[in-house]
Amino acid sequence: MTVVVRSFAKINLGLYIGAARADGYHDLRTVYQTIALHDLIRVSVGRGTGIDIACTNKDPRVPLDSSNTCYRIAERVLAELGAQGRVRIEIEKRLPVQGGLGAASSNAVATMIALESALKRALKKRLSASARLRIAAEVGSDLPLFLVGGTTLGVGRGEEVYPLPDLATIPMVVVTPQVGVSTPQAFADWDEFINARQLTRPSASDRLFEVGCVLSAWLSGSPNTGALAKGGSRAGNLLSDLVRTGIENDFERVVFPKYPELRDIKGALERAGSRYASLSGSGSTLYGLFRSRAEAAKAASRLRKQGFGAVVTSTLTRRQYWKRSLVASR
Ligand code: C5P
Repeated sequence: MTVVVRSFAKINLGLYIGAARADGYHDLRTVYQTIALHDLIRVSVGRGTGIDIACTNKDPRVPLDSSNTCYRIAERVLAELGAQGRVRIEIEKRLPVQGGLGAASSNAVATMIALESALKRALKKRLSASARLRIAAEVGSDLPLFLVGGTTLGVGRGEEVYPLPDLATIPMVVVTPQVGVSTPQAFADWDEFINARQLTRPSASDRLFEVGCVLSAWLSGSPNTGALAKGGSRAGNLLSDLVRTGIENDFERVVFPKYPELRDIKGALERAGSRYASLSGSGSTLYGLFRSRAEAAKAASRLRKQGFGAVVTSTLTRRQYWKRSLVASR
């Protein structure tokens, strides 16, 4: 049995990093948003044992061994379900590797969904929702969001996820530079940045609390932020809310100085008319949100003329995310 699923990407609408924890991770607050760009994951189960991984574009940064997130999750799903079989996972790569779009995390969750589906007929049992979330969080901080989809609040190390009222579909432009940014390195650079400014900045946990208040006010449509001003729809107001709230991604402070071309791309997105532009996760992908698809298309063509690899896409609501997830099951 082969199951094919879309493995959608995410962006971060604001990302705030706290202090390093005793376990080496960082507490953070972020709003994840799934988008329509995706990889394809094909999972088949046959007789025998073992897990094989194949990747269509043979990017050396995509491991094909037990360190691949798809392998790690497949191993856990089989153990949890008490299932056996030879599992083949094929990754059709379209999303950037180390791009801040959560591709490796999304690939793993797509593998879990496809594998469960492939095993369903033979086993007649499924994982509980909490087991799925636990397994996802064991494999990486950015996985659980893909079990929710749409607009999702991420807290803890990012693995604790809460579905938020969905923001309606927003047209956007995604620019993916050639450079890949290592997330652990970006966190280490953040620690250095914070340590160097310890005397002049509020403590990291105070800061996260303040940020929590800003996010909460924004998301709940508090009159202070004007999110639901004059009965307007959330979707219609999102762009102006983002701009007004000044929501930001902390990683820009350490990633831009290291890769100045990324700052230039953000500037180019802003000059091309985006209402809000930002680095996604630790990068290197940047995105710009636009009022209409036509404005996004115009901006993308302008950016391409400047030599940037820009594509037009849109955000995905939770409903769209799940509706478009399954491609084939045969
Ligand atoms: O959870 P994940 O395996 O994706 O994290 C990769 C690395 O990124 C961690 O080992 C850690 O160094 C860093 N990280 C962090 N704080 C987070 C998430 C990740 O320091 N909230």
